[in-house]
Amino acid sequence: MNIIRLGDIAPNFTAKSTEGRLDFHEWLGDSWGMLVSHPADFTPVCTTELGTMANYKEEFDERNVKVAAISVDPLDSHFEWIKDIEETQSAQLEFPLIADNKREISELYGMIHPNDNATMTVRSVFIIAPDKKVKLILTYPASTGRNFEELLRVIDSLQLTQYESLATPANWKKGEDCVILPSVSNEEAEKLFPKGFKEVKPYLRLTPQV
Ligand code: BEZ
Repeated sequence: MNIIRLGDIAPNFTAKSTEGRLDFHEWLGDSWGMLVSHPADFTPVCTTELGTMANYKEEFDERNVKVAAISVDPLDSHFEWIKDIEETQSAQLEFPLIADNKREISELYGMIHPNDNATMTVRSVFIIAPDKKVKLILTYPASTGRNFEELLRVIDSLQLTQYESLATPANWKKGEDCVILPSVSNEEAEKLFPKGFKEVKPYLRLTPQV
């Protein structure tokens, strides 16, 4: 199984999708990206997930994140299934659903975990920065649908911490206090964070999000 780690360049691929042939890196362009795998078409949890992802599309667009989904089912099956998703989830799918019936991309991304299931992809999430580096990897079992609020929360954290000397604490949400990186001295922090900061411990300093 191919192993992708944080900081690796997301492997490029070309594939058939419901929005035409797709060169992954070209399609991402300068945007952030989120690639999610789902176990199989015409399954209940996946149906709710893809409907939810479609209904969150505006939130992803606002954050400049292009989203795509993938499974090992073929394209004609995807097109049939989309009709059900749109009917049952009051959603319009406006992102590519990739057909990986040869399992090449699923293998490339380590989305098949043979000790869990020999043929189906698990529920993987890869979040990719504009430089094509992998910033987040999550793996859920088939039995647990993903929480898209959490995915947006992580994207907010990634986009904030990419450009500031900050990290985000447990359960952080956009707008809440952030943690100043330990590598930043108090003198530097005074210049960097005009709203000031609270020193709970020398290594735990909080500053409002700007
Ligand atoms: C589902 O999406 O509902 C599902 C898929 C594979 C196994 C179990 C559940």
